[in-house]
Amino acid sequence: MKKLQLLFFALLLSCSIVHAQKGPAKPEMTRLVNNALDRAVHQYKLMMQHVPDSVLPRTTSNTNGSLVTAKTNWWTAGFYPGTLWYLYEYSKDNTLKQEALKRTAQVEREKNNKGTHDLGFMLYCSAGNAYRITKDPKYKDILLTSARSLCTRFNPKVGCIKSWDHGQWEFPVIIDNMMNLELLTWATRASKDRSFDQVARTHANTTMKNHFRPDYSSYHVIGYDSTTGAVLARNTHQGANDTSAWSRGQAWGLYGYTMMYRETKDKAYLEQAKHIADFILGHPRMPADLIPYWDYDAPGIPNVPRDASAGAVAASALLELSRYTKGELSVRYWNAGEKMLESLAGPAYLAKEGENNNFILMHSVGSLPHNSEVDVPLTYADYYFVEALLRYKQWSK
Ligand code: GLY
Repeated sequence: MKKLQLLFFALLLSCSIVHAQKGPAKPEMTRLVNNALDRAVHQYKLMMQHVPDSVLPRTTSNTNGSLVTAKTNWWTAGFYPGTLWYLYEYSKDNTLKQEALKRTAQVEREKNNKGTHDLGFMLYCSAGNAYRITKDPKYKDILLTSARSLCTRFNPKVGCIKSWDHGQWEFPVIIDNMMNLELLTWATRASKDRSFDQVARTHANTTMKNHFRPDYSSYHVIGYDSTTGAVLARNTHQGANDTSAWSRGQAWGLYGYTMMYRETKDKAYLEQAKHIADFILGHPRMPADLIPYWDYDAPGIPNVPRDASAGAVAASALLELSRYTKGELSVRYWNAGEKMLESLAGPAYLAKEGENNNFILMHSVGSLPHNSEVDVPLTYADYYFVEALLRYKQWSK
């Protein structure tokens, strides 16, 4: 009898280990992912016909539901060309490539823009993907010029790139800025000039020191003294309040440190990414479908908007983080990323063909405190969603 019991427990244990392993893609997930990518291709081929040549798609108007566009100097300008490149990579559809080429060329002029920290978003998502896919050296030149422009905003005393030239702060740095560092680590690889990488690491280290609370949630904005480097203020701009956990900010941090670990292999970044992931996934107000409310501390939860963009960024990051971790932890991150994708690719978030101004995802939030872009599609939600879908396809094999 004892023997039988032991055998039973051994069997149970082996089943749970097997269950905890990340196996090949589940057939239903493969179908869902392919369906979402096919829908995305369809939507963007429709979108191409509606966006005027002089601007780029941004969102949908809260008031009349019409398409809202942006000029090339808006921080989201690179996401439309970037998504087109990803969808071309998936579909090999030449009309998407032609539109991607045209829209990447349109954003190129921002390579000399020294008035924003968002050059990574703008140029790495557009020209970065163009270079990765086409290997055309002209994109390498664009990216290196962009990286040099971005570095003009670095202050060695603070140890950070300055985010904004506006607002109440003398030297504001926002958590979002972590996302612009990949342009710099790439630039060192491409040019062998270590200074880009040095700026990226210094910025990431300073942010790790000053942006995070003991529970590894992050402030949105840190205001620095540009002469002494001292922290003068810890605030929010798009979150519920200064001490809240603004959902997209947590996702930017998670993605940023996962990416910095990939780029540098510095274990401190991996540990930081794991802590942020654990904050997000362990949060008592994380909904069951794993698509966060717009702020984890938003007053009125559960009757507040979700932010699909935060879900898409976090999904892409978690799938990658799963590859740098082992055992149960790796499975936990993979399953969470998969669950987020499953939710986003379902009817609650995925737009129907020809609807949603042809954006792919519904239900994101740009800045609720400014009553701007609340419960709407956003171009960057689409970009990180498509990236996550492609990562899932590639890594679940
Ligand atoms: N980087 C601005 C935002 O996440 O809304």
